[in-house]
Amino acid sequence: MQLKKKRWHCLSGQPITELDKQVMYWENKGKLVPTRDLIKTPEQIEGIRKAGIVNTGVLDEVAAHIHPGMNTLEIDKICYDYCTSHGATPACLNYEGFPKSVCTSINEVVCHGIPKETDILQEGDIVNVDFTTILDGYYADASRMFIIGKTTPEKEQLVRVAKECLEIGAEAAKPFCFVGDIGHAIQKHADKYHYGIVRDLCGHGVGMKFHEEPDIVHYGHRGTGMLLVPGMVFTIEPMVNMGTWKVFIDAEDEYGWEVITGDEKPSAQWEHTFVMTEHGVEILTY
Ligand code: MF3
Ligand code: CO
Ligand code: CO
Repeated sequence: MQLKKKRWHCLSGQPITELDKQVMYWENKGKLVPTRDLIKTPEQIEGIRKAGIVNTGVLDEVAAHIHPGMNTLEIDKICYDYCTSHGATPACLNYEGFPKSVCTSINEVVCHGIPKETDILQEGDIVNVDFTTILDGYYADASRMFIIGKTTPEKEQLVRVAKECLEIGAEAAKPFCFVGDIGHAIQKHADKYHYGIVRDLCGHGVGMKFHEEPDIVHYGHRGTGMLLVPGMVFTIEPMVNMGTWKVFIDAEDEYGWEVITGDEKPSAQWEHTFVMTEHGVEILTY
C-alpha cells in the first residue's frame, strides 16, 4: 500500500508559509490542490499582462472594423496583422492542426469556428471572436461577442447574459475558493433564463502554455475542483446556449474543430484571462 502522491511540496530549507499551511490543509482533506508551478512569479504575471495588452489591442482592432458583409477571413487577417506587427504570435495558428490565427464562431457555432472567405457576416448575426497572443513566451487569451447590426431581442439577451455569467464567475473567484464555486455561480445565473451551460469545454490555466491546469468548469457544485490560490492565472469563458447544453463537432468541418449546439440554437461566450490576487481576481486582458 502506498499513500497518494502529494501535489504540494514545501520548499526545502525554507520556513513553512501561510500558503503552505492552507494548501496542505486542503490536500489532507482530499481536495485537488495546485502544484507549485501553477503559481506564477510576479515577473511571469507581468509577462502575461503584456501579452494581454496586445491581445486586447487585437480585439479592439476587430471591434473597430467588424461590419455586415465582411467575411471571417478578413477578421483573421486583421488579427494576424495587428498581433505580428506588435512583435507577438497568434497562439491558435497551427495549434493542434487549427489552420487560422483566430476563432470566429457565428450563431450556433459554440467555439473554434474557422475563419473562411465564404462565411459572410449578416445583419443580426452574433459572432464570438476568440484570440490568444504569445508575447515573449507568455500567453493571454480572451474573446468577445459582436452583434452585427441589429439582432433579435432573444439573441441580444443571450449575449448580455453570457457576459453577466463571466462577470458573476469572476466575482465568485476568491483566493482559496474552489473552481466549483465559480461554476456554481455561473450555472445559477444561466438557469434563471433556462439557458444551457456547455459542459464539454471549459476554461483553463494559461500563461506559460496555451492550456494548463486547472480545468475551469462553468457548472457544478461549490467546493469541487481545484483550490485556487494567489498567483494562479486562468481563464473563465462560459459558453451559454439558448437551448440545450449539448454540443457536437460539426461533421462539415474538415479539420474537426468547429463545435455547434445540439439543437442548432445560438450560443454566446465571453472570455478573459485572470490572475488570482489576495483579494480576488484581476483581469489581464482588459
Ligand atoms: N482560444 C480558445 C480557448 O479559449 C482555444 C482555441 S484553440 C484553437 O481556449 F486551436 F481552436 F484555436
Ligand atoms: Co480563447
Ligand atoms: Co481559453
